[in-house]
Amino acid sequence: MKILVAGGAGYIGMHTCVVLLDAGHDVIIIDSLVNSQKSNIDRIQRITNRDIPFVEADVRDRQLVSKVFETHSIDAIINFAGHKAVGESVAQPLDYYDNNLNCAIVLLDCMVKYNVKTFVFSSSATVYGDPVQLPIKEGARIAPQNPYGRTKQYIEALLLDLYASDDSWKIAILRYFNPVGAHATGLIGEKPNGTPDNLMPYITQVAAGELEKLSVFGGDYDTPDGTGIRDYIHVMDLAKGHVNAVEKLDSMKAGKVLTLNLGTGRGYSVLEVIKKFEQVSGQKIPYDIVERRAGDVASCYADPALARKVLDWKSEFGIDEMCVDAWNWQLKQDD
Ligand code: NAD
Ligand code: WQD
Repeated sequence: MKILVAGGAGYIGMHTCVVLLDAGHDVIIIDSLVNSQKSNIDRIQRITNRDIPFVEADVRDRQLVSKVFETHSIDAIINFAGHKAVGESVAQPLDYYDNNLNCAIVLLDCMVKYNVKTFVFSSSATVYGDPVQLPIKEGARIAPQNPYGRTKQYIEALLLDLYASDDSWKIAILRYFNPVGAHATGLIGEKPNGTPDNLMPYITQVAAGELEKLSVFGGDYDTPDGTGIRDYIHVMDLAKGHVNAVEKLDSMKAGKVLTLNLGTGRGYSVLEVIKKFEQVSGQKIPYDIVERRAGDVASCYADPALARKVLDWKSEFGIDEMCVDAWNWQLKQDD
């Protein structure tokens, strides 16, 4: 297939492009580079030994996106484009609603115009908010706790409305849990802007001596060791989930909306992640247990059974590989 990957220069998009190309698909990347670098495109090309058409543009630019559809005969779109920082979304809700919703709207609008009906959307486990039941199934209550999560909720609703209006749409809504790790080459990985918000990049920067110590947010949760539990998933497993999703949609005779969790089904506490990372890297991670972070939940992990059934997909990598690859990527940053 020929797949337009919006936001394909970003963390999850890059890894997905690599797996798509390795599976024999063609990709075209459109990205404004608002949260990524042009060199990422060269790195994907180096890993895959393939040429990738790259359009540096804001996905909200209808004319430009239309032009991409005119130039290439596109079979499907995977949309990663959007802002993703929870704290920033609280401070700048307009920016988040504008960017996240309009990226999706413009792409879908152009798809209607050019009669392309296969769409894969990056949603997030954040739509579940504080889960009522664990592991989380797709039918669980949707109650995001911040503007970022609400942008995902509303785009999901838009996609359901679109399908209701025209049942030839083939849509996959993929709710990612906590993506971590990097490609095994260490050529691509996650490059946070400034001090990382997320646990794994914070740990790797402490290990590299770039940050002094980790603050563990809360030691009094109702979990076995008191620290928060999350479903960390290797970004290469997540990438493979997208390939299976787009291929599944393509193979379906009729339209449908598939809403699927992409997680491992196994949760790790913050202290367990620290311990694993120390084991695989041989580095000590100094930490203090501090106050809880506002908006955090005690535990969040997926029931990934539906994705397994529908996509014939399950995560292959464990927490050891996630830590090894995150550390390898961090070390390559200092080269
Ligand atoms: P990322 O920021 O690394 O990638 C997003 C890419 O989109 C970036 O390259 C950025 O430059 C681009 N972009 C943003 N707005 C754009 C616009 N208007 N036009 C063109 N390009 C634009 O983030 P990521 O971690 O790769 O996440 C990808 C998607 O997955 C996002 O939609 C995010 O909300 C979602 N998601 C991420 C996580 C996570 O923890 N990383 C978890 C769940 C869901
Ligand atoms: C993981 C655990 C923290 C940093 C976020 C978004 C979510 C999704 C994935 C996009 C928690 C603890 C963290 C630190 C810590 N993104 N922690 N010290 O919050 O589960 O999810 O990324 O959709 O929307 O909210 O991930 O990596 O920030 O935190 O103790 O310096 O690590 O409290 O228990 P989170 P995270």
